[in-house]
Amino acid sequence: MKIPSASPSITKKEISIVKRAIAKGWGTKMDYYLKLFSKKFSKYIGVKYCLPVAHCTDAIHLALLALNIKKGDEVIVPDLSWVASAAPIRYVGAKPIFVDIDPGTLCIDPEKILKKISKKTKAVISVDLFGNVAENDKIRKICKRNNIYFIEDAAESLGARYKKKMAGSFGDVSLFSFNATKIIMAGQGGCLCTNNKKIYEKAKLFSHHGIDKKLTGKYYWSSLLGYNYNWTNIQAACVIAQLERIDQLIKYKNKIYNLYKEYFSKIDNVEITKKIKNQKQTFWIVYAIIKKKINKEKFCNQFKKYNIDMRPMFYQISTMPAFKNKKMSSSNKIAKIISQNSVCLPNGYDLNEKKIKKISQIFNSILNAKKA
Ligand SMILES: Cc1ncc(COP(=O)(O)O)c(C=O)c1O
Repeated sequence: MKIPSASPSITKKEISIVKRAIAKGWGTKMDYYLKLFSKKFSKYIGVKYCLPVAHCTDAIHLALLALNIKKGDEVIVPDLSWVASAAPIRYVGAKPIFVDIDPGTLCIDPEKILKKISKKTKAVISVDLFGNVAENDKIRKICKRNNIYFIEDAAESLGARYKKKMAGSFGDVSLFSFNATKIIMAGQGGCLCTNNKKIYEKAKLFSHHGIDKKLTGKYYWSSLLGYNYNWTNIQAACVIAQLERIDQLIKYKNKIYNLYKEYFSKIDNVEITKKIKNQKQTFWIVYAIIKKKINKEKFCNQFKKYNIDMRPMFYQISTMPAFKNKKMSSSNKIAKIISQNSVCLPNGYDLNEKKIKKISQIFNSILNAKKA
């Protein structure tokens, strides 16, 4: 019985719509499911525009391009996230300024953003991590007051709410991912959401080699240096089916969380994801913060012989070769501790009580093994 770190939930619903898309979604119907997805997804989030793209990383890149962020500019981003939250800042030649996280949400700390704003700051990327939401109301105010853009990377927190508002409805632009690990998925995929028509149109232009026949009246005319970030009809069809099941899927994630909570409450030296005030978390990934000094890679490797794919916490982005900044990494103390001492528990939709019991027992024996 192998326990993967993540696995999706695929039913007859996804299979039948994907079959229809692959059989009929061509020619005059080549963007039928893409358009339907945009309509349904923007309604779900409560935004006016939704641009489907091949990956969330592309959507972050497009957001920066649409906001005209370039060389010489600075963009504030949390030091603890998947590398894709920061890499597009470098794609456009701007400088990422890594900011520490809040120990309660593991998302960027609004108080610490204030200290890092300079004349060069053009935007803040707030990442809603692991099914939690950042204090995006405060961040929004900070951005407004300082006349900078607010980009919300909600890749990991689709369906979560903060003060009753959807994750991904706070930013001037927000981004989502549908890669195979996410709450709803299509193997790969993503989208950019906004209420601003200009941002949407600009992002759309960049996403398709700068070609827009409606705008220029010409086929194949590239009016700016763009990219091919188009998504496919087939993947959009898959996500439409998943979106119809999202309440049920989030409910299952909550069930997994409650089981982890029950079994991990009996284990010493560890604390798993906590419920956060004013939030309706999705518990996309349940993380475990270990109260002992560990080497997270070695710790996770020990689960291999039990057929469990335990994953370490993200690294501080500011410690990685493409972003290395010793001053920033050593001043982001919370990100450093959480990164070193935490792991992500398996989070697939294939989990059940038997598997969670097994994971917790093995976790306890590895963490609290008594030396002879
Ligand atoms: C916080 C965050 N941002 C961005 C991304 C990038 O998403 P994608 O894999 O769709 O490019 C991910 C993906 O895992 C993510 O977790």
